[in-house]
Amino acid sequence: MSGGSVLIVGATSPMARYAAEEFGRRGHDLVLAARDTEELSRLASDLRIRTGLSVRTVMFNADDEQGIPGWVNEVWESAGPWAGMVYAIGDMGDQLQMENEPTLGLTVFRRNYTSAAILMGSFGMRLAAQGSGFIVGVGSVAGDRGRRKNYFYGSAKAGFHAFMQGLRSRLVDSGVHVVTIKPGFVDTAMTFGMNGLFLVGDPREVGRRIAKAAFRPRDVVYIPGPWRWIMLIIRNIPERIFKKMSI
Ligand SMILES: NC(=O)c1ccc[n+]([C@@H]2O[C@H](COP(=O)([O-])OP(=O)(O)OC[C@H]3O[C@@H](n4cnc5c(N)ncnc54)[C@H](OP(=O)(O)O)[C@@H]3O)[C@@H](O)[C@H]2O)c1
Repeated sequence: MSGGSVLIVGATSPMARYAAEEFGRRGHDLVLAARDTEELSRLASDLRIRTGLSVRTVMFNADDEQGIPGWVNEVWESAGPWAGMVYAIGDMGDQLQMENEPTLGLTVFRRNYTSAAILMGSFGMRLAAQGSGFIVGVGSVAGDRGRRKNYFYGSAKAGFHAFMQGLRSRLVDSGVHVVTIKPGFVDTAMTFGMNGLFLVGDPREVGRRIAKAAFRPRDVVYIPGPWRWIMLIIRNIPERIFKKMSI
């Protein structure tokens, strides 16, 4: 018997697909969302075979902000009862291109922050009315401090973190658990070919920990764990020194 449905938005991300597998292992039916519907279908067939549970797919485009409340309404009515949701969409963008044409940054803001806020806010209010559930949002250590190399992406993730912090507080008395995941570097398409990576997470392990976080009473989870201490140090470097550091 299902323990309730889990919506995974950005399900074609490698870490999200392993999170989906973990939710399936725990007996949750799945609704997988992203733009690439062919890849979603392949993923769904695989998960059905592995888990024997109901796995549905639905097209979602984070670039259509205005359509999100209606989309949430349709998805909510199409399944349930709901255990919760995961937001895993992210886009780093090309920092150099965005510096030359800053309006290109709007896509990065939308995919990492504004569309996420609309979606998690709409879904969260429904979970609150239901009286239970979880929202797991995948942010990034990049949102912990603005850096010269990725401040478009980092500022969007910072907004995402702050939104989740407020939503957590808003929903705490409604029985809804809101947890922010802050991965460091993870071996996915997003980091392919990047130099200077260290403590690189395996998407399978990161995915499992994303799913497990839904059932644990932690508010913010760094993956791999040492990033909590690395970011504590980075956040505390005085600005007059930090602004001259090439990190
Ligand atoms: N990789 C890292 O080192 C790292 C580190 C820290 C945080 N993160 C975060 O982890 C999450 C997953 O990242 P990843 O590395 O697995 O990246 P990825 O492989 O590039 O996956 C990105 C996901 O976002 C979806 N997506 C992108 N634009 C979309 C849009 N307009 N509408 C709907 N879906 C869209 C993609 O699905 P479709 O293309 O199928 O639509 C895909 O599922 C992101 O939030 C990212 O910011 C990653």
